[in-house]
Amino acid sequence: MSQALQVFSGTSNRALAQEICDFLQIPLGAASIDRFPNDELRLRIEQNVRGSDVFVVQSMSEPVDQHIMQLLIMIDALRRGSADRITAVVPYFAYAKQEKKTAPREPISAKLVANLLTVAGADRVLTVDLHAAAIEGFFDIPVDHLRGAALLADYVHSLGLQNLVVVSPDAGGVARANDFRYRIGASLAIIAKQRLRPDAVEMIEMVGDVRGRTAVIVDDMISTGGTLLEAAHLLRERGAAAVYVVATHAILAGNAAERMRSGVLDRAILTNTIAVPPSKRGESLTVLSVAPLLGEAIRRIHENMSVSALFT
Ligand code: R5P
Repeated sequence: MSQALQVFSGTSNRALAQEICDFLQIPLGAASIDRFPNDELRLRIEQNVRGSDVFVVQSMSEPVDQHIMQLLIMIDALRRGSADRITAVVPYFAYAKQEKKTAPREPISAKLVANLLTVAGADRVLTVDLHAAAIEGFFDIPVDHLRGAALLADYVHSLGLQNLVVVSPDAGGVARANDFRYRIGASLAIIAKQRLRPDAVEMIEMVGDVRGRTAVIVDDMISTGGTLLEAAHLLRERGAAAVYVVATHAILAGNAAERMRSGVLDRAILTNTIAVPPSKRGESLTVLSVAPLLGEAIRRIHENMSVSALFT
């Protein structure tokens, strides 16, 4: 594309947006974001965007609804500022577990969020590890859906661990875990999970042999940490020699980070699709950066090159 490339950021993960700009060797776009006295969001794009190819980086992390609203209002401002094309870069797409009704009179909130982005004026979406890939179909605009697996697998590989078994902590994650085990050369174990409440899970049974092995639990997100910790306890009970976890989205709700330091885990390897504050970090937590992955995808979208080549 001949138009100028510009990257703007909401407040959810400015460090990641800055890293992406460093990768692209461009300055982060200037925008002011604060509040009117009546608590409404006050936003202004502080530089000319007319005719530009604009990317807005905003994770839908806590406070989720505020961050979504910020993204929508920023897209609206860019549209009214005559940006030529606007791509919503959403490293973590929230409401993704609400992609279908599980009971009468429930919303399909993921579809509503997709509609909101489109109505605000987004021309494209760039995201990482959607909880349900079917959400891509909720959009009638192009969605580039990147995967964190190669980044995470390369890191696990670099640790030189032996005798590995990759563990899916629930039936829904089997395809993800199966892909991961081929990437790192491991066998597969599968746990059957039952969610009792939004913040409580129970591990029912496990298929696969973990005795004496280094178990690597693979998941897309760690929210309350319940899934991960229950799985880790079961793996220890079944004789795993060490327990690692890899996951893309570090939601780390409530005291999840503290619970993860209980000793049952040897190491957690996450990414910065969501900003992880120092208070939630610890010696056994590694946070890998998705900035090169997103930066390269932005470069390719801007230059009309294939993005799928990044998936391998
Ligand atoms: C479930 O389908 C997801 O892949 C994760 O396993 C789950 O969302 C993690 O949530 P929590 O940490 O609250 O158990």
